[in-house]
Amino acid sequence: MAPQGRSLGIDFGTSNSAAGYLSDGRPRLIELAPGQTTMPTTFFFDYDTRRTLIGDPANQALLDGVEGRFMRALKRVLGTGLMHEKRQILNRSVTFVEIIARFLNQIKIRAEAQTGLTFDRVLSGRPVVFHGTGDPREPLAEEDLRRCYLEAGFLEVDFLPEPQAAAIAAGALDQPGTIGLIVDVGGGTSDFSLFRSDGGGITILANHGVRIGGTDFDRAINIDRVMPLLGKGGLLRKAMGPGTSPIPNAIYNDLATWEKIPFVYTPQNRRMVAEMLRLAQQPDRLSRLARVLEDELGHDLAFAVERGKIAANAGEAQPRILLDQVERGLYAPLPPEALTDSLARHAAALAEGADETLRLAGIDAGDVRQVVYVGGSSLMSMVSGTMKARFPAAGHSFKDVFTAVTDGLAIAAGR
Ligand SMILES: Nc1ncnc2c1ncn2[C@@H]1O[C@H](COP(=O)(O)OP(=O)(O)OP(=O)(O)O)[C@@H](O)[C@H]1O
Ligand SMILES: [Mg+2]
Repeated sequence: MAPQGRSLGIDFGTSNSAAGYLSDGRPRLIELAPGQTTMPTTFFFDYDTRRTLIGDPANQALLDGVEGRFMRALKRVLGTGLMHEKRQILNRSVTFVEIIARFLNQIKIRAEAQTGLTFDRVLSGRPVVFHGTGDPREPLAEEDLRRCYLEAGFLEVDFLPEPQAAAIAAGALDQPGTIGLIVDVGGGTSDFSLFRSDGGGITILANHGVRIGGTDFDRAINIDRVMPLLGKGGLLRKAMGPGTSPIPNAIYNDLATWEKIPFVYTPQNRRMVAEMLRLAQQPDRLSRLARVLEDELGHDLAFAVERGKIAANAGEAQPRILLDQVERGLYAPLPPEALTDSLARHAAALAEGADETLRLAGIDAGDVRQVVYVGGSSLMSMVSGTMKARFPAAGHSFKDVFTAVTDGLAIAAGR
């Protein structure tokens, strides 16, 4: 059957998703929830009702401590072996492909219900780079995402680089012939598009991306500031004989990595932590780790870190990560120096990403007239600070940070 309906633009994000279509020559975003044009890319499998929740209701279920399994940052799993592994969820054997497909199908259903239109085709955003240039998972990631859309009921699937979509939405700059740079730092990736504005439209000069996003910022802060409170960096007495050995880091790293959190609550890990607790020099700290595994608090911690990150970045007077769920009154201070410190290598990688984009196009930094920020993590002052140092003569604008990519996808989908 040949696709007949219209094309829906979908920005399937690591942290947030949105959809839109072209109506009377203008992008129109779908209300994915009442009054909301973006929704969290999150999932909650409720063990009791056996329902799968997505978006804000999924986040709320986690917050309410409902018995179930929460997942976020699944976009990072695209292209990896995990995508096609069967896992038992709600007594059904499912893959991540099916889980993501159901999410995308919900977007389709909501878009069609709201507009009365049929969307057989989708124009999906994709990061310029999912994993890394030359990484063998790179082509697989797009194939996985295509499979997800096909299983969601779309008959035709096309892709557009996310920053290129944002460049389309940014449209002509103030002066024809001038050059702009989109800096899209989201939850999972940082994407750059260098474009020349020519009258009504734009020409893309280069696209480039690196696998760095807000979830990596969360991870770095979590490992540096929170995990030591759970015993990371401590010592264990030897099970036999004198001497000590360092506590292994692996469980802390997994616990701080959004997409790995659902898989740390294994009987093996619980046994390992119980054994470490027996040998710990600082058992108080390890007993917190045991509690986090027992009560499955990994996502609560990660959300607490994310909130602390945003508050610290916003210049809150006493920035801290509140950890009351683990232990009443427990918190990790997050002063500005600590934030800068934890994110220093990400800042360097972003600077390098911008340089590489310029190199690909053969353009000098001084020729860039406007830097347009897109993506929630572009609100980090580390990001704009890094770019302002690179492009001191350019204008810097933050407009439609959360919806520019979807606007551009909607425009391009309608063409
Ligand atoms: N006010 C803020 N200050 C700093 N960071 C923020 C703010 N608001 C959101 N973020 C971060 O932005 C990220 C989400 O941004 P966004 O919704 O643009 O990502 P995404 O499109 O889902 O991801 P990607 O495009 O990488 O797949 C999260 O990591 C979140 O912590
Ligand atoms: Mg994005």
